[in-house]
Amino acid sequence: HGYFTYDPGFLSTASCESKITFIDGDAGILLHRGYPIDELAQNANYLQVCYLLLTGDLPNQEQYDAFRKRVTRHTMVHEQITSLFRAFRRDSHPMAVMCGVAGALSAFYHDSLDINDPRHREIAAYRLISKMPTLAAMSYKYSIGQPFIYPRNDLSYAGNFLHMMFAIPCEEYKVNPVVEKAMDRIFILHADHEQNASTSSVRLAGSSGANPFACIAAGIASLWGPAHGGANEACLKMLEEIGSVERIPHYVARAKDKDDPFRLMGFGHRVYKNYDPRATVMRNTCHQVLQELDIKDPLLEVAMELERIALSDPYFVDKKLYPNVDFYSGIILKAIGIPTSMFTVIFALARTIGWITHWLEMQADPASRIGRPRQLYMGTPTRTVLPLEQRK
Ligand code: CMC
Repeated sequence: HGYFTYDPGFLSTASCESKITFIDGDAGILLHRGYPIDELAQNANYLQVCYLLLTGDLPNQEQYDAFRKRVTRHTMVHEQITSLFRAFRRDSHPMAVMCGVAGALSAFYHDSLDINDPRHREIAAYRLISKMPTLAAMSYKYSIGQPFIYPRNDLSYAGNFLHMMFAIPCEEYKVNPVVEKAMDRIFILHADHEQNASTSSVRLAGSSGANPFACIAAGIASLWGPAHGGANEACLKMLEEIGSVERIPHYVARAKDKDDPFRLMGFGHRVYKNYDPRATVMRNTCHQVLQELDIKDPLLEVAMELERIALSDPYFVDKKLYPNVDFYSGIILKAIGIPTSMFTVIFALARTIGWITHWLEMQADPASRIGRPRQLYMGTPTRTVLPLEQRK
């Protein structure tokens, strides 16, 4: 076994060099291209953060206007995509649908795409940023049996997404500015997070030279699990299961019990052993939204009490298990009327910019090679194959 370093879960292995995102988990710092996440959430919008991740700098007004125009040019999807949706069972989980339809974009843009040409790679990136909200909203409309709503390019990125989610033909739909702002924040805070499981999946798939839309489908699949992007959905399901404030101690006791696999969803993080800086911003937005929309929901009471306990109970404090970004994003999404099954889809939509920026960085790096981890073989040593009649 002496040849390879064994590092299950990649706790101490860097898989690449990158200039996109910096995280110091002990200090609770997250920077995109050098800018702190809280300042970005305060002073920029999601599209500006997309521009920053893609190009390395924040746009000035002129650059922003041109970028916005380019993004809106690609917001529609090919009409044939609608037949793809119709092939799914109507009760399919929207993440299952997203794995399929995002991957299927590769069928629409393959022959014309030369991944060795930087301009082609850039167009693929624009297409993805523009089309993901459309596909995400379509996956919701399909699940509830309503007609698909076309994108509206005069609205903001978040506003257009909400419009495609909630508008009904022939009825006027006005986006609530508080909800629009909260949605934009959720997008910003999920935009990138360096080499997490889904981004690493996109890089590994991309390292073989595969079609970028197919690589994004690999990212979506990886994000789905409850230990990663699926945590926001799992968290809301847990809150529903807990049901009332009086039942919280029972679940907290279960979370502390070593023999019980139950975990408090939306708590803890592999990298942050300090408060997740995204959670700080999300927490403020969450409290703001609940106050401004004046929502009284017993689940939100359970969430707030759980937050209080986790921040004061020695088990969680000693293990540094703080509420993470998905704890608060789930609560906000619930408060603004997004169904639980769409939570991870929204995470995927927002993370697409991170995935494709990493893919672009990797493709442009002359040192990048196909990803090929090794293993420690623990199986049977060499033995002889006996003819069938001699085998016991
Ligand atoms: N509830 C109760 N105990 C926990 C929890 C939790 N949510 N998370 C970790 N622990 C305990 C765990 O039992 C272990 O205890 P001990 O040292 O006594 O064995 C200790 O804390 C360390 O946990 P770990 O599993 O070794 O840590 P990890 O870095 O492998 O896992 C994690 C990180 C996020 C998968 C984990 O904290 C977890 O399962 N959390 C719940 C799911 C969740 O909210 N995930 C979203 C993460 S943020 C968004 C994203 O990345 O997509």
